[in-house]
Amino acid sequence: MEGVPKNIPIKKEFDPLINHAPKRKDILSKDEKIVTLKNALRYFPATQHKELALDFLAELKEFGRIYMHRFRPDYEMFARAINEYPGKSLQAKAIMLMIQNNLDPAVAQHPHELITYGGNGSVFQNWIQYRLTMKYLAEMTDEQTLVMYSGHPMGLFPSHKNAPRVVVSNGMMIPNYSKPDDWEKFNAMGVTQFGQMTAGSYMYIGPQGIVHGTTITVLNAIRRIEKKTGNNGRKLFLTAGLGGMSGAQPKAGNIAGVITVCAEINSKAVETRHQQGWVDEIIQDLDALCARILKAKAENEVVSIAFLGNIVDVWEKFDSENIFVDLGSDQTSLHNPWAGGYYPVGITLEEANEMMAVDAEKFKELVQESLRRHSNSINKHTKKGTYFFDYGNAFLLEASRAGAMVMADNNIDFKYPSYIQDILGPLCFDFGFGPFRWVCASGNPDDLKKTDEIACLVLEEMIKNSPSEIQEQMADNIKWIKGAQENKLVVGSQARILYADAEGRMLIADAFNKAIAKGEIGEIILGRDHHDVSGTDSPYRETSNIYDGSKFTADMAIQNVIGDSFRGATWVSIHNGGGVGWGEVINGGFGMLLDGSPEAEKNLKMMLHWDVNNGVARRNWARNENAVFAIKRAMEAEPLLKVTLANEVDQEVLNGLNI
Ligand SMILES: NC(=O)c1ccc[n+]([C@@H]2O[C@H](COP(=O)([O-])OP(=O)(O)OC[C@H]3O[C@@H](n4cnc5c(N)ncnc54)[C@H](O)[C@@H]3O)[C@@H](O)[C@H]2O)c1
Repeated sequence: MEGVPKNIPIKKEFDPLINHAPKRKDILSKDEKIVTLKNALRYFPATQHKELALDFLAELKEFGRIYMHRFRPDYEMFARAINEYPGKSLQAKAIMLMIQNNLDPAVAQHPHELITYGGNGSVFQNWIQYRLTMKYLAEMTDEQTLVMYSGHPMGLFPSHKNAPRVVVSNGMMIPNYSKPDDWEKFNAMGVTQFGQMTAGSYMYIGPQGIVHGTTITVLNAIRRIEKKTGNNGRKLFLTAGLGGMSGAQPKAGNIAGVITVCAEINSKAVETRHQQGWVDEIIQDLDALCARILKAKAENEVVSIAFLGNIVDVWEKFDSENIFVDLGSDQTSLHNPWAGGYYPVGITLEEANEMMAVDAEKFKELVQESLRRHSNSINKHTKKGTYFFDYGNAFLLEASRAGAMVMADNNIDFKYPSYIQDILGPLCFDFGFGPFRWVCASGNPDDLKKTDEIACLVLEEMIKNSPSEIQEQMADNIKWIKGAQENKLVVGSQARILYADAEGRMLIADAFNKAIAKGEIGEIILGRDHHDVSGTDSPYRETSNIYDGSKFTADMAIQNVIGDSFRGATWVSIHNGGGVGWGEVINGGFGMLLDGSPEAEKNLKMMLHWDVNNGVARRNWARNENAVFAIKRAMEAEPLLKVTLANEVDQEVLNGLNI
């Protein structure tokens, strides 16, 4: 409720025990630094400028950004139960809960720099924006909408009860100013931020969100390998990264029943995931790692191992030791290659962190050299039969830019598929299956248990009449929700992810709303990852299985967020750059509070129907077979839905043309 404090709080000591964002590069000219200081000081009365100017300049020099560390609140940061928040709007209280969850040190990657995941996925640019936003939310009514410009609360504007309470845009740039250095510059100036996907949209639920997607991916990758090779033995999965999202890989590997080796260079990230039980063992020595793998293979174990070190060393060692990798991928943060997302082989983490700030050119050279070595080694493994896929972290994109041998013969496509092209796109997104999620606003684990049971009952009822095309997906999702409690996936708020299609999302949400009305559970906040059927246009990831040329357009993501906003979403967000990097993707999402009311029932049906079928319709227009099937089914179920269908061209017609 305090907003900007009357008196300047005392300075906060830098806490070395917390995982901090790396120092950002010194990119601003002297004149730009003056504007940057004016930008930061405009939140404060003139009487405080002299003292704060010195402090903010010191932060700019030390961190490359002005985080306003001294304004970080003294209270503990975590999601409270919804009724513990002050305010006049239940919807605004739900948003406060979600914001605090995104900044909870147990959840966030660099909590003091307001970064939730992905190295630069920000909730706010500085602590004053946090304070002001919380104050606006605590004061607003259901007749107002809070407008968020890249972390900055522009203010409350009159609207109406069924309008979104908050509209968020993050990093929306004039297209020509959307290069990585533009982010460095304009973020340093305090006028834009990288919201990632669920960081700046207040919809992060910890790595659970990605465990499900990774489990589906690994499961289906194994099905592919087994279909192709007939080898049903225990598989070895080699990958990298134990950070915000990547930390889900060993857990997903365990659920999918493989031996997982996940290399991670940062010991803090390794320890966090080990303590949380997300990875079983830690090994630092390459020979010991090889011996452990051989033992696991011999004893047919399911085990996940964190290798503390560089992934390139592991690929090379496994090659020289002839350890066969069945499945390979990578989840270092290559959407952010020059500022701490990817650590080059041959130097330590500390050396790299220093170099990227003081000698950015040299650092870039080392990253690119490392990517070439990394790719060469993967190429050797794939020649032996490894199935390698890009897991949406821009690995192949950056490797190709570094001149690594990752292009296909036509020099247009990559040598390896993305997980969307081979797996998630055709098997999930085209049918409308995506990462639906919910948060129990009471904070009560019993509510989560009850919602898991409700969702499971709905899916078990649905599968009885599901067409054969989606039986496998339905069965995987039922298995997931049945194991969700046992797998102890909750970090932060009481949240659950469950892949579901449009019908499933609507039926589950409706069942929740009815249970709330009966008093069986408290309010529920619905949402989803932006990494979904309709929310994201990203040519190297979510829309990489669109082959009609439209994968370089962003109409779908923009239409989606506009459509959600007038169909009852509680908040909506649209971002530049989540996932694969600044300028490479447009993604959007929503949050929706269910309170058991008839209005909530109307909204959930209208909005979720659009939120999925928009993307299915677009995928159908791109001639994706499974999407054509899904949209025709959706039209049969809803007479008000009328989608333009594509006519297939007979190849014979084209063969005869002189092109
Ligand atoms: N496919 C998906 O569904 C999906 C979802 C979310 C994120 N992603 C992408 O995956 C990437 C990782 O996301 P995150 O949130 O885990 O990021 P993160 O920055 O939290 O984690 C990446 C980790 O990789 C480690 N690392 C970097 N270089 C390394 C190297 N050479 N060897 C060993 N470890 C190294 C870092 O220390 C860091 O801990 C991002 O690019 C993100 O956009 C993909």
